[in-house]
Amino acid sequence: MATFTLPANSRIRPGRTFEAPAGATRVKEFRIYRWNPDDGENPRLDTYRIDLDACGPMVLDALIKIKNEIDTTLTFRRSCREGICGSCAMNIDGTNTLACLKPIEEVKGPVRITPLPHMPVIKDLVPDLSQGYAQLRSIEPWLKADSPAPPDRERLQSPEERARLDGLWECILCFCCSTSCPSYWWNGDRYLGPAVLLQAYRWIADSRDEATGERLDALEDPFKLYRCHTIMNCTKTCPKGLNPAKAIGEIKRLLVERRG
Ligand code: SF4
Ligand code: SF4
Ligand code: FES
Repeated sequence: MATFTLPANSRIRPGRTFEAPAGATRVKEFRIYRWNPDDGENPRLDTYRIDLDACGPMVLDALIKIKNEIDTTLTFRRSCREGICGSCAMNIDGTNTLACLKPIEEVKGPVRITPLPHMPVIKDLVPDLSQGYAQLRSIEPWLKADSPAPPDRERLQSPEERARLDGLWECILCFCCSTSCPSYWWNGDRYLGPAVLLQAYRWIADSRDEATGERLDALEDPFKLYRCHTIMNCTKTCPKGLNPAKAIGEIKRLLVERRG
């Protein structure tokens, strides 16, 4: 098995190594970022060697196996294990993605796992997403309408109006996109980032919403929206195959159009 050497200037310490059980024939190595806020130490990378014949196919299966059978101190988020809740977002093999949707077999060589980049870390693979959630609240992600709903049924949409929400409603707010965006890395306190901007556009595009002008006013800001420089990392990394860069482009287009 290839040995692993951290660069001399790395602030990540080499960590502990857990060997696969004797007799294992299909061994895969996982190198996992560990940081405990309570021990006063710098982060480290722990190495776990796992018998793939005794493990499910996805990276999340390996993490659960490690936590259940090898090292109960490993901390990560997960819930649905089918790409719906967004909890298991992390950086796997250099790309932000969902651990439950990432097949172990897709990673050549050791599987390196770190938290979503450029976010404060709470512990191990758990990032602090408070900033993103506060930004989501700021765009008021709910239907706003002054006209009363019909008394006997929902507010209806035509099939065409409903289709405008495709590619938007599927977003699970995993923040893989925002944490892959260089503009968000450097200006995340003021730039809303692709995840929140896609959500903002989801409500702008909704035919039942009556606050479009107000929503566009709130986004017309050099930092909230215009820090997007169309680098496209967001769209490249989205594990649900969505296109946040396109949604951002649509908001910019609407702002230009209403200026006339
Ligand atoms: S657009 Fe994609 S990557 Fe971004 S938060 Fe939504 S699902 Fe996650
Ligand atoms: S297209 Fe915009 S939001 Fe997406 S990664 Fe680039 S700068 Fe960030
Ligand atoms: S566990 Fe819910 S998206 Fe992965």
